[in-house]
Amino acid sequence: MTVTAGAPVDALTPVDHLALVDEHAAHNYSSLPVVLSRGEGAWVTDIDGRRYLDCLAAYSAVNFGHGNPRILAAARIQLDRVTLTSRAFGHDQLGPFCAELAALVGKQMVLPMNTGAEAVESAVKVARKWGYQVKGVPAGQASIVVAGGNFHGRTTTIISFSDDPDARADFGPYTPGFRIVAFGDADALADAIDETTVAVLLEPVQGEAGVILPPPGYLAAVRELCTRTGTLFIADEIQSGLARTGATLACQHYAVTPDVILLGKALGGGVVPVSAVVADAEVLGVLRPGQHGSTFGGNPLACAVGREVVSMLATGEYQSRANLLGATLRAGLDALVGHGVTTVRSLGLWAAVDIDPALGTGREACERLLAHGVLAKDTHGSTVRLAPPLVVEADEIGFAVDALGTVLADMAG
Ligand SMILES: Cc1ncc(COP(=O)(O)O)c(C=O)c1O
Repeated sequence: MTVTAGAPVDALTPVDHLALVDEHAAHNYSSLPVVLSRGEGAWVTDIDGRRYLDCLAAYSAVNFGHGNPRILAAARIQLDRVTLTSRAFGHDQLGPFCAELAALVGKQMVLPMNTGAEAVESAVKVARKWGYQVKGVPAGQASIVVAGGNFHGRTTTIISFSDDPDARADFGPYTPGFRIVAFGDADALADAIDETTVAVLLEPVQGEAGVILPPPGYLAAVRELCTRTGTLFIADEIQSGLARTGATLACQHYAVTPDVILLGKALGGGVVPVSAVVADAEVLGVLRPGQHGSTFGGNPLACAVGREVVSMLATGEYQSRANLLGATLRAGLDALVGHGVTTVRSLGLWAAVDIDPALGTGREACERLLAHGVLAKDTHGSTVRLAPPLVVEADEIGFAVDALGTVLADMAG
């Protein structure tokens, strides 16, 4: 079908929208068949006016809810001032944003970027430069150790150290310089670190893998190994960070302090892409003018939104909500074990359930949840993730859990 440029979208039916996407958008996603047009708090509405509880929250980019009034107000003020200057010039939001974000996580400096993948890429570059200039690794030999089952984004370098065949196949040649060891295996990590190793890069909780928590003592062992070998511990908190797990950083649950913290998603308040590499000057200070950059990274609108997010996080309110409501979600999901759910994993308001494969796939469960007014996302065949915005209420969590119970009972036939 054809559409006229700029024509109002209201005339299009859901079928029209799905057809347009199928014909004209690259097929790199297999979205659930829903066409959303509005969002408020934990809820989204499709073009026919049907409401759904958003239990994905854009992979935690919408931690503060759709249309959060504080974030929108900050964005609106900045929209009327200046939105983009490039880093060729200074502006009045950059310094405050970097200082406030660094203080929130106890570091000195921020390298602002846009998407999560850019933050990871930037950290890889910074770690390599730090390795050559500070650690004294011989030129061209820097290695970075990562975990099996990782998800750090989609660029060519990042998929070079993924072990997911879908993410990698036919995208080579791959970037060298990475070693993969099993997540949770501190002995394997110790064996993989040598004098060329500049960093260990990990998600403290593996999100895309299905909310996989680190085994007891693992992150502390990673910290100890990195300290002992003079290796940077880079924590990818792009999905786990900024209150989702009930703490500002997931690492705080395990009482470990990484050298480099990667943030993204929720940092943009669900409004703009904002990501950051956060570290001390000893690490980020290796970058000199001209060695790294981004036209949009650290733009005034992004910084203004990011500052509002930081100030909302500074009160601890959202972290508390994630803890409290996470307990409600966990209790509800635990009650489904044996009723179509085999395993529940969660931290804060971030949960994954493994569905009994005899009943069907995670995708099928998500399609059925859609019909019950709940949007959730499957992963790895039989897992369904639940991560509603942190503004969700306890009764809304009950609504989602009840829907999942009904869906599983239906699937059991
Ligand atoms: C832990 C982690 N790192 C990095 C990324 C990549 O972020 P983006 O999609 O913004 O590039 C993601 C996205 O899901 C993620 O979960």
